Amino acid sequence: MGQQTELIHRGERPGPTGSKALTTPIYETSTFVFESARDVERYQDGSFPAYLYSRYENPTLVAAEEKVAAADGAEASLLFSSGMAATSTALMTLLKAGDEVVCASAIYGGTFHLIEHLLSGLGIARRFVSLDELATPAGVIGPKTKIVWFESPINPTLRCVDVRAIADACRAAGVVSGIDNTFASPVNQQPLAMGVDLSMQSATKYLNGHSDVTGGVLSGSRALMAPIGKTRRLLGGVMDPMPAYALARGLKTLPLRVARHNANAMAVATFLDTHAAVERVYYPGLASHPDHVIAKRQMSGFGGMVCVDVKGGQAGAYRAFDRLKVIKRAASLGGVESLCSLPILTSQYGLTDEELRKAGVTRGMMRLSIGLEDPEDLIADLEQALGGS
Ligand SMILES: Cc1ncc(COP(=O)(O)O)c(C=O)c1O
Repeated sequence: MGQQTELIHRGERPGPTGSKALTTPIYETSTFVFESARDVERYQDGSFPAYLYSRYENPTLVAAEEKVAAADGAEASLLFSSGMAATSTALMTLLKAGDEVVCASAIYGGTFHLIEHLLSGLGIARRFVSLDELATPAGVIGPKTKIVWFESPINPTLRCVDVRAIADACRAAGVVSGIDNTFASPVNQQPLAMGVDLSMQSATKYLNGHSDVTGGVLSGSRALMAPIGKTRRLLGGVMDPMPAYALARGLKTLPLRVARHNANAMAVATFLDTHAAVERVYYPGLASHPDHVIAKRQMSGFGGMVCVDVKGGQAGAYRAFDRLKVIKRAASLGGVESLCSLPILTSQYGLTDEELRKAGVTRGMMRLSIGLEDPEDLIADLEQALGGS
C-alpha cells in the first residue's frame, strides 16, 4: 500500500478487550505480568510472543516502530530517546577499538563531538572528509574503515551529496553506510531504496512534527537492527511509551505535512531569492543551489529548510532575527511552527572565521525551518523583518 495508507494503519494494536480501540493505547508500564514460570521460559526461548520489560520492548513503541519502518521502506526500525541516542547506539554497536569511522566533516555538531571526543577515547579512529572527497567515495574508505556516516541535505547550507554513489562504494568495500536523513524525511528521500544500509533520523523533527517529542530512529535490515537492538537494551536509550504514542500520531500525517513544508519553503525561498536585503538563498529546490541537480535526482521534494545570507553580515542578520513576529526565534526544526535560528549562535557557535569558512557558514546567515502556516503570512513576516525602518 501507499506510504500514507501504511502510516495510518500499520502497527495499530487494538488491545486485549472485547471492544477494540481504534488507536494503540499508551502502555505506560515499566514491566509486564506473567502467569507462570513456564510462560517466562517460553518468552525467553521465543515461543511465547509477550513483553517482559519496557526497556526491552513495549507495545506502544513497537506500534510506532512499525510505522517508521513503513515510512523508511525498512525491514525493521528501532526508536530511541533522542536522535543522539540513536546515533551513539548505532556507532557503539558497529565499531570497536582499532576500527575507523569515516564521517563527513559537514555533519550535525552532536555527531561530530560524539565521534571526535567520546568514541576516540574508546580507541575508535576517525577521519573527517570534505564534500569534495565524498564526491569520489571509494577514495575515502581505508583498510580499517567499518562505517561511512554522512548527511544530505546538510545543515545549514543544504548541500547534498550523491547518496547512491556513497552507498555503492560502501557496499563494494564491505563497509556499512549510514545516513542522517533528518533534514529530508523519508517522504522526500528514501536512502534505503538507494542502497544505504542504515538510515537515522532525529524523530524530534519532521517525523513527530509538532515540536513536543524528543526522539530518534534507526532503520535498516533485520540483520543490522538485531545487534543494535541488543545494544539499546544495554545503553538504555530507548523511547518511553508516551512520546512513542505522540510520535505514532504525528506519523499519520507525515506525508501531508511534508508536502506543505515543501510548498511553503519553495514559496519563501523564491520570495527571498529576489529580495534586496538578501545576499544569497540556500535552498536545494532553486536552480541556483550548487547541488540542485543531485537533489532533483534523489529527492522527491526539497524539504522545509531554507537558509539566507542577510546583507549587512552579522548586524543585518541580528536585526532581521530580532524583528520576526510570526516566525519564532528557536533552535530545532521540522515542526508545524516556523522557526528561525542563527547558525553562529547555535550549530556553529564559537567557531573561528576559518572554521566557519570551511563549514560554508557566514556571520550573516539565518536558518529558517518553514512550518505549515499560510505562506503569505510567513512572507509578510520576513518582508517586515528584512525591510527598511
Ligand atoms: C541533522 C540532525 N541530526 C541529529 C540531531 C540530533 O537529534 P536529537 O536532538 O533528537 O538528539 C539533530 C538535532 O538538531 C539534527 O539536526
